[in-house]
Amino acid sequence: MNTEMKTAGAELLSGKEFAAAIKDDVASEVAELKKEGIEPCLVVVRVGEDPASEVYVKSKVRTAEELGIISEHRHLPEDIKHEDLLAVVEELNSRDDVDGILVQLPLPKHINEKEILETIDPDKDVDGFHPMNAGRLAQGHEALVPCTPAGIIDMLKRKGIEMKGANAVVVGRSNIVGKPMALLLLQEHATVTICHSRTKDLADVCSRADILVAAVGVTGIIREEHIKPGATVVDVGMNSIDDPETARDFFGEDELEKRLNTIEKRGSTLVGDVNAKAAKAKAGYFTPVPGGVGLLTVAMLMKNTVKAAKLRRQ
Ligand code: GUN
Repeated sequence: MNTEMKTAGAELLSGKEFAAAIKDDVASEVAELKKEGIEPCLVVVRVGEDPASEVYVKSKVRTAEELGIISEHRHLPEDIKHEDLLAVVEELNSRDDVDGILVQLPLPKHINEKEILETIDPDKDVDGFHPMNAGRLAQGHEALVPCTPAGIIDMLKRKGIEMKGANAVVVGRSNIVGKPMALLLLQEHATVTICHSRTKDLADVCSRADILVAAVGVTGIIREEHIKPGATVVDVGMNSIDDPETARDFFGEDELEKRLNTIEKRGSTLVGDVNAKAAKAKAGYFTPVPGGVGLLTVAMLMKNTVKAAKLRRQ
């Protein structure tokens, strides 16, 4: 069946399915831990009224509850003093019942984000943003790893996509996705290249990738000439387009009409860093936007919370 799909174009990897599989595994682990008297607990801290953050945090708290993880949502005022937010983090660090602490970003401008994130106990840092966890990952030690790249590795393993010896190219070098993604692929024995805005001849480098991860936040930067035939193309971009011409360039017959309708109704439509028409025609596997890796992030946050609960008790 796979061969048939390959000749017809890329197989789409559904984030929803992989997220459901991860959540099933986490729910079983939580049930096992409860038998041992361990009740994993996640606290999500939100500051101010950013509407996107409100949606994300609600989804995190709801997912935790679904899986049997105790969760707490600390909603703090926009004008909270930096010292008072630090004190909240320190209080959560000291609470023995709390396994995971997540401070939702972005934080208001007057808060020193770096200092807040560095104050979180690295062993409770379920986002994996603390430099201690970044260092542990770089050195190949047990670490809490950022959720999106960890979810991508989990998905590639579940799909049986060979990483050992593969040429993997990561486009983007952020601390949250690009760098940890590259280190995780390296840990899986891929030959890894990191590309960025100064890379010369991006298409030449990308076109040799068996696994291509795009995480730069540039609409459609990955096109037909960047994709090796049959490659696995993972799109981490989250961009919105409002122009029907761009949509015509981006989408084929299969979804153009739907996208044009969305632009007309809502003013824009969500796209990634990869030109979807090109990836569907040329890749072996492709994670669409939306419906791809974005859905893995919350599932992996739950996995990290259980991991933290276990590691803290070792
Ligand atoms: N804001 C958007 N995505 C994230 C995330 O993964 N973690 C945190 N802490 N804030 C975010």
